[in-house]
Amino acid sequence: MTMAERLTGKVALISGGAGSIGLASARAMVAEGARVMLLDLDAGALERAAATVGAPDPDAVAHQVCDVTDEEQVASAVRATVERFGRLDVAFANAGIAGVIAPVVEYPLDVFERVMAVNVTGAFLIAKHALAAIAPGGSLIVTSSTVGLTSEAGIAAYATSKHALVGLIRTAAKEVADRGIRVNSIHPGPVDNEFQHAIEVEAVGASPEESARAFESKIPLARHAAPEEIAALVVFLASDECPFITGATLAADGGLSI
Ligand SMILES: NC(=O)c1ccc[n+]([C@@H]2O[C@H](COP(=O)([O-])OP(=O)(O)OC[C@H]3O[C@@H](n4cnc5c(N)ncnc54)[C@H](O)[C@@H]3O)[C@@H](O)[C@H]2O)c1
Repeated sequence: MTMAERLTGKVALISGGAGSIGLASARAMVAEGARVMLLDLDAGALERAAATVGAPDPDAVAHQVCDVTDEEQVASAVRATVERFGRLDVAFANAGIAGVIAPVVEYPLDVFERVMAVNVTGAFLIAKHALAAIAPGGSLIVTSSTVGLTSEAGIAAYATSKHALVGLIRTAAKEVADRGIRVNSIHPGPVDNEFQHAIEVEAVGASPEESARAFESKIPLARHAAPEEIAALVVFLASDECPFITGATLAADGGLSI
C-alpha cells in the first residue's frame, strides 16, 4: 500500500466541515482517496468550502447543511451520506464554538449552555447516529482540545465541554469495539486560524500579533499548528495504519499539555 492509498474506498463525514480544521481534514482525506460529506451551518460557506477541497473527482465531495445540536438534522445528514456514497467508514465530530472568557462566578448561563449544546450534544449526536451506520473497521474521531486535558482560568464552558468529550469517546470505544470500530479524541493546541486568534485577543487583550506571541511563549514548540498538521492526525486515525488505537486521547499541541 502506498501513502497515497491510505483512505481509498473510505467514506467520511465531517462536522464543522466548512471551518479551518474540518476543511483541511477534508482536503487531506480526499488526497488519500476518501470521499467526504461536509456538514456545517451555512449553505454558502459549505459551497465555497467544497469548491476548494481539490478532489480530482468532483463527485467525491458532497455537502449538507446540518446544525449538530438538532437530532433530526444529524440523523438526516448521516442518512444522506450513506445514500450518496453507499457506505460510511469515518465520522469526524469536529464542529465547535469557544464561548466567552469570564470567571466561573460571572460566566453567563446562556453562553455556557450553548457551548455545551454545540460541543458536547453535537458530538454525542454525531456519535449516536454515525456509530449506528459506520462499517466494521471504521473510525469515529472527536475534536477536543488541549483544554480537554488541562485548563486555564476563564474558559469554564469550553474546557468543561472539551473534557466531557473524553467521557464520550471512552464510553463509545467500549460499546463498538466488538465491531472493530475505533473511537478516539484529538486534542489540538493553538492552531493558526481565526477561531484561535479571536480567543487569544479576548484572553490577552492586546493586538492579534502580541496575543499570539503570549500564547506561543507557553508552548514548548513555541509556535501555532497549521490546520494541516491537525488534519494529518485525523487522516492517521481515519486510516487502517494502527487499528489497535481506541479510546485514546491524542494531543497535537506542541507540548502545551505536558
Ligand atoms: N483553532 C484552534 O486552535 C483549536 C484548538 C483546539 C481545538 N479546536 C477545535 O477544533 C474544532 C474546529 O475548530 P476550527 O479551529 O476549525 O474553527 P472554525 O470556527 O474554523 O470551525 C468550526 C466550524 O464549526 C461550525 N459550527 C459551529 N456551530 C455549529 C453547529 N451548531 N452545527 C454545525 N457546525 C457548527 C462553524 O460554522 C465552523 O465552520 C472545534 O471543535 C474547536 O473547538 C480548535
